Amino acid sequence: MDAVRTSCERLSRLIRDKQAVIGVIGLGYVGLPLVRAFTAAGFRCMGFDVDQSKVDKLNAGESYIKHIDSAALAQLIQEKKFAPTANMARLGEADCIIICVPTPLNDSRDPDLSYIEGTARSIAATLRPGQLVVLESTTHPTTTRTNVLPVLEATGLKCGVDYFLAFSPEREDPGNPHFQAATIPKVVGGFDERSGDLSCEMYGHAVVKVVRASSLEVAEACKILENTYRAVNIALVNELKILYDKLGIDVWEVIDAAKTKPFGFQAFYPGPGLGGHCIPIDPFYLTWLARKHGEQTRFIELAGEVNAHMPQYVVNRLGEFLNEQRKPINGSRVAILGMAYKKDVDDPRESPSFELLKLLLARGAVLSYNDPHVPALPKMRHYSDLPAMCSQDLTAEYLGAQDCVLIATDHSAYDFPFIVRHSRLVLDTRNATKGVVEGREKIRRA
Ligand SMILES: NC(=O)c1ccc[n+]([C@@H]2O[C@H](COP(=O)([O-])OP(=O)(O)OC[C@H]3O[C@@H](n4cnc5c(N)ncnc54)[C@H](O)[C@@H]3O)[C@@H](O)[C@H]2O)c1
Repeated sequence: MDAVRTSCERLSRLIRDKQAVIGVIGLGYVGLPLVRAFTAAGFRCMGFDVDQSKVDKLNAGESYIKHIDSAALAQLIQEKKFAPTANMARLGEADCIIICVPTPLNDSRDPDLSYIEGTARSIAATLRPGQLVVLESTTHPTTTRTNVLPVLEATGLKCGVDYFLAFSPEREDPGNPHFQAATIPKVVGGFDERSGDLSCEMYGHAVVKVVRASSLEVAEACKILENTYRAVNIALVNELKILYDKLGIDVWEVIDAAKTKPFGFQAFYPGPGLGGHCIPIDPFYLTWLARKHGEQTRFIELAGEVNAHMPQYVVNRLGEFLNEQRKPINGSRVAILGMAYKKDVDDPRESPSFELLKLLLARGAVLSYNDPHVPALPKMRHYSDLPAMCSQDLTAEYLGAQDCVLIATDHSAYDFPFIVRHSRLVLDTRNATKGVVEGREKIRRA
């Protein structure tokens, strides 16, 4: 019992004195902002990533994420407040380890927990008494207990005695200038009382507010609820958009009117489909778990169906609008504006623009794109057969040469009056041209 107290008290003291070394595994969209929050709070951070090229860039003071500033990063490296490495054998040097690795779906749309499990094995290889391990990757309830705990227990060390374990979901919202890791309240659920206490102490230094959940599972379920809530509500407005389009009612105006209700309504907006690493994926972790327990998650599946249909809807509408001008999609020049999945980010993961590209190419459109944040199309797991493409300059000549300009992402950098002025036909899936006065007769929406 004394050994337990010693382990826990020692780590607690290190955290209190900001002498604990924070190790972040997975230096991506979630991991890097977390490093920024902990270093800003006065902790020394180690960063672990299997991608050596990312580690090299970071060590050279070069950020690969748009909203993480390279100069600030270079300073952290120079002052030795942040040490990125691909050497997992150094995990034993960290006192607190936070896991931020990907949680995708596999080809049959089941959870792919291989990244989490691989990371757990790496931690286990150097696990020592007095370490705290926190999983942040989004996943279904029970993952920490079922997929991480046994790997760590296999070392012979006891959770809650020798080392400590918790789950704390990441709520990063890339591109949102109003919130960053440090200003977003954090939910924390510990394996036991001590694990919960230590995690709350640690995060308490770096984030504005820590919300204690009573268990690992409550914290895990909380994140999935948040993401499912978004997926379902976006599906609702997407479905209504199709109906209101038919009725000649402007869905965006309807939402703007509805959101004047000061209670009981939160605005969600339609679009060309769902994108990003989270909303199109995470709810299906729960669907998989429900199936295992002989239950269904009908809302999630229906939302998935509605949202997944949106790119096809957009392409069908585009076909109709070109048809009005006696043009087939086949052979028409179409420019997609915005390959990132949402406004002002450089993240193309799961972006519906890729599905739009694929569908339009299949119908013979002559395609190109512009995205100020995505200079060249990266290789995507599910779109490996798309041709290599680079972002085109958004000049008057380029716009004028297109049969249709399809606005898929409403980046702030776009000058929409300019785009409308120089295009022959604009298909707007984001209500981005709402404020454009001149040339409205050229704008269609879907
Ligand atoms: N991006 C978001 O906005 C966001 C928001 C909330 C939650 N999340 C969740 O956070 C987790 C991470 O997402 P992300 O967007 O940061 O992903 P990311 O792809 O940007 O970063 C993950 C990093 O982990 C690295 N990695 C993969 N396997 C590894 C391993 N075994 N050891 C060490 N590093 C490894 C990859 O090289 C990559 O750099 C996911 O579960 C995601 O669902 C993401």
